[in-house]
Amino acid sequence: MSAIESVLQENRVFPPPEALAKQATISGMAGYNALCAEAERDYEGFWARLGRENLHWSKPFSRVLDESNAPFYKWFDDGELNASYNCLDRNLENGNADKTAIIFETDDGKVTHISYRELHARVCRFANGLKSLGIAKGDRVVIYMPMSVEGVVAMQACARIGATHSVVFGGFSSKSLHERIVDVGAVAVITADEQMRGGKALPLKNIVDEALTLGGAEAVRKVIVYRRTGGQVAWQAGRDLWMHELADAQSAECPAVPVEAEHPLFILYTSGSTGKPKGVQHSTGGYLLWAKMTMLWTFDLKPHDVFWCTADIGWVTGHTYIAYGPLAAGATQVMFEGVPTYPDAGRFWEMIQRLKVTIFYTAPTAIRSLIKAAEADSKVHPRQYDLSSLRLLGSVGEPINPEAWMWYHTNIGGGRCPVLDTFWQTETGGHVITPLPGATPLVPGSCTLPLPGIAAAIVDETGQDVPNGNGGILVIKRPWPAMIRTIWGDPERFKKSYFPPELGGTLYLAGDGSIRDKDTGYFTIMGRIDDVLNVSGHRMGTMEIESALVANPIVAEAAVVGRPDDTTGEAICAFVVLKRARPNDEEAKQIATELRNWVGKEIGPIAKPKEIRFGDNLPKTRSGKIMRRLLRSLAKNEEITQDTSTLENPAILEQLKQAR
Ligand code: PRX
Repeated sequence: MSAIESVLQENRVFPPPEALAKQATISGMAGYNALCAEAERDYEGFWARLGRENLHWSKPFSRVLDESNAPFYKWFDDGELNASYNCLDRNLENGNADKTAIIFETDDGKVTHISYRELHARVCRFANGLKSLGIAKGDRVVIYMPMSVEGVVAMQACARIGATHSVVFGGFSSKSLHERIVDVGAVAVITADEQMRGGKALPLKNIVDEALTLGGAEAVRKVIVYRRTGGQVAWQAGRDLWMHELADAQSAECPAVPVEAEHPLFILYTSGSTGKPKGVQHSTGGYLLWAKMTMLWTFDLKPHDVFWCTADIGWVTGHTYIAYGPLAAGATQVMFEGVPTYPDAGRFWEMIQRLKVTIFYTAPTAIRSLIKAAEADSKVHPRQYDLSSLRLLGSVGEPINPEAWMWYHTNIGGGRCPVLDTFWQTETGGHVITPLPGATPLVPGSCTLPLPGIAAAIVDETGQDVPNGNGGILVIKRPWPAMIRTIWGDPERFKKSYFPPELGGTLYLAGDGSIRDKDTGYFTIMGRIDDVLNVSGHRMGTMEIESALVANPIVAEAAVVGRPDDTTGEAICAFVVLKRARPNDEEAKQIATELRNWVGKEIGPIAKPKEIRFGDNLPKTRSGKIMRRLLRSLAKNEEITQDTSTLENPAILEQLKQAR
C-alpha cells in the first residue's frame, strides 16, 4: 500500500510515551492545565514570572503589558536587556562555555564543532568590527547569507550592538533584495561571495552588487563579504570588505549594549495578500522570551539533546529555532548548509545517524519529497539508517497531512517519537498552537492546543466565537510578548491587516481558517483565507507574482491562484493574457518557460509558477472584477459548480479549461 494513500478520517490518538511525560518540562495534561490556569488567573503575572525566570535583564522591568496604545502593545517596556548576552554570555556563566553550541555541516560533508566560548569570541570580534565601521544601535543591517556559522555570527553581532538586522533569504532575486534594502533603510549589507547547495555554487555578492545599482540604496555604506568559496567577485574599493579581515583585527571582548525590551531585534519581510512584502518588526524582550520558552516547552529541551532545525536563517523558523531559541536555551544544535537530496535523498537520515540528533524539526514538504524518494529507491529509505538517537520530531510551515504524519512517526520516529505539528507565523515570533511532547495526546493532522498564555480562538466574520465543530477564522484574543509590533514604516497597514475593524479591532487575525474538534477542542488549520500562497512552506502573495508577470512587456494581464500539490502543499498556477494573440500549443510552452524564468528573476526561483495557462481574457464580472474562485476551480481541474451568471464572458471558462 502506498504510504501517501489517503487516510480519509483520522481516528488514531497517540498518547505521550510515559517515560517522556514523567521527565518533561511540562508533564502531563495536568502540567499543561496548571500553566493555562495560571495565565488565566493573572495574565500579566504569568508573563512577568516567565520573563524574570528565563531572561537576564540588565535593568529589570517593572511594567509588564502596556495596552494604552493598542494594538501597538508594549511588553516589559521599562526593562533593558541584550539578546546576544542572553544567548552567549549567559552560557559562559552557566558552565556551558565548552559545550558545543553549533555542529556545522557543509554541503560536501565537512563538520565543525563550535563551542559557546568560541561562538562568543567570534560574535564579539565581528560586533567590534561593525562598531569600527560606525554601525550602532538604531541602524539597520541587511544580511543576505548562506546557511553558515557566519550567518548566525552576523545576526548575533547586530543584536550585540543594538543594530536591527533584516535577513533576506538567499533565494531572493536582486530586485527583491533591493526592495527590502530600500524599505528597511539599511546602512550595510552582510553577504558571502557564493553559497554552496547541492554541489553548486550560487553567487550572492554579485546579486548584492546588482541590487545596489538599482538606485535608492545610497544609505548602504559598506558591504561585508564572508569568503565561502573563494569564487570570483567584483570589488568596490572603500565599500566592500572581507568579513574575516574586519573581524580578525578586533578584540574578542565586546560588551553587549543593553537595549529597551521593545527595541527592534529584527525586521523580517513576509508576504501579505496585497501590496509589497511587509517588514514584520519584532521586539527584543518579548521575542527572545518566547524563543527560549518554546525550546523548553515544545521541544522539551534537555542538556544532552542534539537539536536540528532544517530551516534557513532567511525565514522566521531559522531566526527563532536556529539563531536565537537554541542559543538562549543553551542547546547543542546542528546547522546544515546543503539540501536534503544531495548527494542523495538519504542525507537527512544519514546526518541524524552520524550526528546523533535527538530532536529533528523540518517541513512537511521535505518529508513528502523524501517519502517519494524512499519509495522510489530503497537505498535512501530511512530503514537503512540507525535513527535510534531521535526522541522528538517536529513539523512546521504548512499543514502536515495525516499520511505524511504517519510516515514520519513510523519511519523516522520508529513509532516512539511524538510528532509536534507546530503552528505559527512570522508574525507570532514562535509557536502558538502545538502539542507538548510530554502532555498532549496526538492526533495526526492536528496542531492540537494553544500554548499556555496564547488565547487562540475561532470566530466568524463578525468576530463572534463559533462553537467547536464549526470552521471559522483563527484569531488570538489577547496580546502576547512575542507578537509582531508593527509593520516597519507602515503602522496603518499593521492595524488594518492584523486587527481589522470588522472583527472588532482587538482580535489578532492570523489569516488562516481553522476548525476545532467537537470533543477535544483540538485545532486543525485549514489553510489561508486570504490571497497568500504556501508553496513548500514558502509564503507568497498572489499579487506579488501577478505584478511580476505584468511587468513583462508581453503580458497584458495575469491572475495567480494556488492549487493543492502532493509534494509542495500548494502549487502556483498563473492565468495570463498576452498583448499579442493567444499562442498555439508549441509557442505557449516556450512563452511559459520565458515567463517562469522572468518571475524567477523578478522575485526568486521559489515564486516560479508551476503552470501557466494563456487565454484571450480572464473570467470577470460585469464590473470588471476577476473571479478568482472560478480560476481556483480551473486550476484544480474540477467541474465548475459555482454560479457563473454574473460572469461577463462565460466562454472564457471553456478556453482556459482547454488551455492546460
Ligand atoms: O498558513 C499557515 C502556515 O504558514 C503560515 C505562516 O507562514 P510564515 O509566516 O512563512 O511562517 C512559517 C513558519 C512558522 C501560516 O499562516 N503554517 C505554518 N505552520 C503551520 C501552518 N499551517 C498548518 N500547520 C502548521 N503547523
